[in-house]
Amino acid sequence: MNVLITGGAGYIGSHTCVELLGSGYGIVVMDNYSNSSPAVIGKIESITGKKFPSYQCDMLDYEGFEKIFKENKIDAVIHFAGLKAVGESVEKPLEYYRNNLAGTINLLRLMKRYGVRRFVFSSSATVYGMHNTAPFTEDMPLSTTNPYGTTKLMIERILTDLCHAERDWKVALLRYFNPIGAHQSGLIGENPNGIPNNLMPYIMKVAVGKLPELRVFGDDYPTPDGTGVRDYIHVCDLAAGHAKALEKIDSLNGARAFNLGTGKGSSVLDVVHAFERASGVKIPYRVTPRRAGDIATCYADCTRAKNELGWEAKYTLDDMCRDSWNFIRKNPD
Ligand code: WQD
Repeated sequence: MNVLITGGAGYIGSHTCVELLGSGYGIVVMDNYSNSSPAVIGKIESITGKKFPSYQCDMLDYEGFEKIFKENKIDAVIHFAGLKAVGESVEKPLEYYRNNLAGTINLLRLMKRYGVRRFVFSSSATVYGMHNTAPFTEDMPLSTTNPYGTTKLMIERILTDLCHAERDWKVALLRYFNPIGAHQSGLIGENPNGIPNNLMPYIMKVAVGKLPELRVFGDDYPTPDGTGVRDYIHVCDLAAGHAKALEKIDSLNGARAFNLGTGKGSSVLDVVHAFERASGVKIPYRVTPRRAGDIATCYADCTRAKNELGWEAKYTLDDMCRDSWNFIRKNPD
């Protein structure tokens, strides 16, 4: 099977490329490199020893996008490409709706035109909103609190409606919890430009001295140690979940959501302490007021992915911290 991976040079996309190549899939990568680098393509080739077509292309460039379908036989698509910073989406909603929604609609139009009906979508636990109680199950009511999350929810709805209208589509909606960690080679990992929004990239920059200390956003939540609880999942477990979704995709009946998490919650301080154990580096931190929009506790019920995809996460928080540390000390800049 030949799989088009949009956003394939990104953090989760690149790890999924490695997983698919290792599982015998052919891949074609498309990325506009707005939040990644062309150098990642070479790193994927170094890790796997395999070459594959890659295109620098923006989803909004319909002609350029169509060239990929003209030049390659595509059997399935995994769609990672999209803007994904929560805070930025609040400041620039129109950019997020245009890029994420119009870009995805271009992709779906091209899939229809070229007879491609297998689709794996990079969704997010953010669609569970503020009103559900963890552990989250796929049938819970969905809501969002920021434009980024709303684009994810809207795309899920677009795909669900498309599957109702055209029965030959097979769509897996993969709802990620908190991806962290890196491939054991240390060649690929999460290394956002500038000041990271997310916890682990921030800790990594503190660990290599690029930032002075971590700000812990609130220690007065109703959680065991008062800090926010999340379901951190190793990015390689997440990548394996995509391979499983492709393996089972033809048995799906229309669009179906799956939680990809570990089912375990870890607090901010749990992560800090695990990272200190893994790295031997002290992570200084200061407790600050809560961050607007944060919920206290978020973790997955992954029963459906286990039963229907035959997938479950296997890496521990210590594994994730070990691999994150291995990556950042090899790529401090
Ligand atoms: C985790 C915990 C913070 C930074 C977001 C998006 C979600 C997905 C993953 C894309 C929280 C605390 C964080 C810091 C801190 N992204 N924290 N200091 O908010 O759970 O999820 O990223 O799909 O859609 O919503 O992840 O890593 O930002 O925060 O104390 O400098 O760490 O309060 O409890 P989050 P996060």
